[in-house]
Amino acid sequence: MCGIVGYIGEGEKKEFLLSGLKELEYRGYDSAGIAVLKDGHITSYRTLGKLENLVHKTEAFSSDGFGLGIGHTRWATHGKPTEANAHPHRGEFSYVIHNGIIENYKEIKENLQKEGVKFLSQTDSEVIVHLFEKFIKEELSAQDAFKSTIEMLQGAYAILLVTKDEPETIFFAKNAVPLILGQNAKEEKFMSSSDSPLIGYATEVVYLEDGEYGWVKKDEISLFMNEKPVIPTFATLGRDKIYAQKDGFRFFMEKEIYEQSSVVSETLMGRISDEGVELDELKDIDFSDIDNIKICACGTSYHAGLTAAYLFERLSKIRCQVEIASEFRYKEPLLDKKTLFLVISQSGETADTLEALKMAKKANMKTLAICNVDNSSIVRLADATLLTRAGIEKGVASTKAFATQVITLWLLSLYMGKKTIPAKKMQSEIKALLHTPSVLHVEDNTHEKIRRLSKRYLHGHGFFFIGRDIFFPLALEGALKLKEISYLHAEGYPSGEMKHGPIALADSELFTVALMPQTMLYEKTKSNVEELSARDATILAISPKEFDLADDFIKTTEQSHPMSEFFEMMIITQILALEIAVRLGNDVDMPRNLAKSVTVE
Ligand code: G6P
Repeated sequence: MCGIVGYIGEGEKKEFLLSGLKELEYRGYDSAGIAVLKDGHITSYRTLGKLENLVHKTEAFSSDGFGLGIGHTRWATHGKPTEANAHPHRGEFSYVIHNGIIENYKEIKENLQKEGVKFLSQTDSEVIVHLFEKFIKEELSAQDAFKSTIEMLQGAYAILLVTKDEPETIFFAKNAVPLILGQNAKEEKFMSSSDSPLIGYATEVVYLEDGEYGWVKKDEISLFMNEKPVIPTFATLGRDKIYAQKDGFRFFMEKEIYEQSSVVSETLMGRISDEGVELDELKDIDFSDIDNIKICACGTSYHAGLTAAYLFERLSKIRCQVEIASEFRYKEPLLDKKTLFLVISQSGETADTLEALKMAKKANMKTLAICNVDNSSIVRLADATLLTRAGIEKGVASTKAFATQVITLWLLSLYMGKKTIPAKKMQSEIKALLHTPSVLHVEDNTHEKIRRLSKRYLHGHGFFFIGRDIFFPLALEGALKLKEISYLHAEGYPSGEMKHGPIALADSELFTVALMPQTMLYEKTKSNVEELSARDATILAISPKEFDLADDFIKTTEQSHPMSEFFEMMIITQILALEIAVRLGNDVDMPRNLAKSVTVE
């Protein structure tokens, strides 16, 4: 996961840039670089590997006196980890750093190449600096050139750009990837991907919104959205690291819910090309004799597995069964070498999942882990691993780990279906995958609506979350979230199964959270919800289509792919659980009786 820092002021630029990058180290990276613009001259250093290499390379460099600097840690996405692919990327007189994915970079690159622009790297990011310089050469002001550049970019980005054309300014833009601006009384300005590099330097910060862009000078911040000026709203930056780590959110869980858009971009990075899905981690594994997938996991990871089973059968056309690891271990399972054994674990340390993996290894099965923690026990044991790249998850109730697990499994199902999925279908799946970060953006008014609604759901004799197809595991996960942090009883159920027993519980004190996607079995689900409504159950419907019988209704956006609806509804159920737990006064991040990593069976 890339990290970004920037600085304007009289101080030693190298010191802030390197210490800031050090603070962002936890995000993971494979190369790093800085560029400093001072007295009309730009000096840039890039190195592969650890930050110490950059520290070493810049030992003799100092940059006191007024100037600007930008710094970046890169996690390889488009293009291998090499020094040429490390940021900052340079044009003839400007340098850029970028975190995110420029989805339409190929098209932009081809057009620029036709005009004679030479590219030095394989990255998507490099197009930004060349586009900018192209507009400058067309005699646009640096401000207009930057604006025109941003207008051409599709995708996720946090961008800092410096240019000799405007040597006292750093240009910035943010969309679906975090970027913070900071300042202090010493006329110093700072930019960073998160709060923690800014502690001890900036006293107040602005958390940029998606779509915002502008430029910073030593005594001025110009901020815009849709070409209109925006007055920046500064918040005091605490000096507490824990507060900083929460990036201004009340709870880690809330921060992690909001982070999902950007971490999912990280999960996707470098794994999608024009040909389809590329998973370098699996290139040495021969899947040709695999005709079945067995998934084992616990808790939320089990729900990600249940979701994936629909995708493996529907997209990859491979049979798939999912088992709770603690059940699997003692059932004397029949293990077959043509079955791929897939374990899913956020922590990589869950005892039951680890033991199930050991059983599969003993049976000489091919094993694969989907995990968030590199070097964990599960990662070390499995034949291969796909890391989910969610970053550290602190809230015990898992949110961003689930989202990234589902994305990784979706990628895997497309990878395994390479030979069977028709080209057109593959293209539409990839389009939907790339659309996910924007679906995961939390709208303020949606959060506020859920917060207001939550007060009606603090009592009753139970919740049923219901859905069909992939929305059934999502219902299970929604119910688990609510149970974990609100301590209210909740169950997830397939909508069509309610009439086979649970409907006996229906009365006005039974709360049904109905997942009613438009793109998947809408009419069928609607009939099931009507059956409950007819028995006076209280219905909270989540759907893009107005539903008259709902007591409460959360309207989602019109989407064309079921997975887009899945992720939008996922966020709503997470926020619903959060807001109910907050009203009940519970410890959201550390709920009673639960542990983040369960290393006992
Ligand atoms: C614990 C956590 C859950 C998690 C489960 C599996 O119960 O509280 O949030 O889903 O373990 O953990 P894993 O790390 O294997 O995904």
